[in-house]
Amino acid sequence: MSFSHVIAFAALVGAGLAQAADPPAQAAPAAVTEQAAAPAAPLKPGDATAGQAKSATCAACHGMDGNPASSQYPKLAGQHEDYIARQVELFKSHKRDSAIMMGFAATLSAQDMNDIGAYFATKASLPGVADAKLVARGEAIYRGGDKNENVPACMACHGPDGRGNPGSGYPQLAGQYADYVTLKLKDWHDGKTWGDDDRAKIMPAVVKGLSDADIAALASYIEGLHAADAASTAAK
Ligand code: HEC
Ligand code: HEC
Repeated sequence: MSFSHVIAFAALVGAGLAQAADPPAQAAPAAVTEQAAAPAAPLKPGDATAGQAKSATCAACHGMDGNPASSQYPKLAGQHEDYIARQVELFKSHKRDSAIMMGFAATLSAQDMNDIGAYFATKASLPGVADAKLVARGEAIYRGGDKNENVPACMACHGPDGRGNPGSGYPQLAGQYADYVTLKLKDWHDGKTWGDDDRAKIMPAVVKGLSDADIAALASYIEGLHAADAASTAAK
């Protein structure tokens, strides 16, 4: 291959026209080296349409639209794409412990996880109802934390309306089943973790000072929290 070919190829790359290059130029060693040295192509953002088809097996437990019929299973409707993909990856790598989810995550690629995440993110979480007896204590901790117990306000990260913040990896909580939230808060309280990165270390630290009664109150308040109006359904 001639020197002038390489120059021509470099010029094409520079002009963003590499794919229009003649076959000899595409086979240039320079191009091969460049490809090998380049980092793996970034994943494409999730495709909700592809995700809908891929989520067929999830529907049995999580519901077709991410709103499960049974409170044993967490709602995925309205949850952020990246959060869903992250959790499925944590199940797949066994960092997040669930005998059930391990099997369903095992066969999914990173792209599948993004697609499924994108699909459920387009759905709306159906609001639940808080227990009127628990809502005052739940709301107080959710919105203001508890200084004596060294518990921060949940609202600071998960938002006043429980919608969370996808950019920071703070999941949506609004409308999530109290049974599921209780289980997770207790797990963290008892020292269980999901992975070992900085993000996974937040919740075990947050819940340390919570009593069982506080956990029940928070879980109930969260189930009644509406993304739309930042209010709990339980009358006060
Ligand atoms: C047989 C029932 C079942 C099926 C089918 C199932 N899941 Fe799950 N899923 C669960 C259970 C139970 C949990 C709660 C695990 C835990 O935290 O202990 C869960 C948790 C999750 C979570 C974490 C939710 C959160 O808020 O942190 C995600 C994400 C998830 N599943 C995605 C999927 C996807 C995607 C599929 C389909 C490929 C799927 N699940 C299929 C039962 C199921
Ligand atoms: C400093 C930020 C921060 C604060 C404050 C915080 N959280 Fe979280 N929370 C997170 C992050 C980050 C995750 C996701 C962890 C991960 O992806 O590993 C999370 C996850 C959760 C989940 C799991 C959601 C799901 O779908 O499985 C629940 C439940 C939860 N938080 C409840 C609370 C409650 C209740 C409070 C207040 C007592 C609170 N959080 C305060 C950052 C925070």
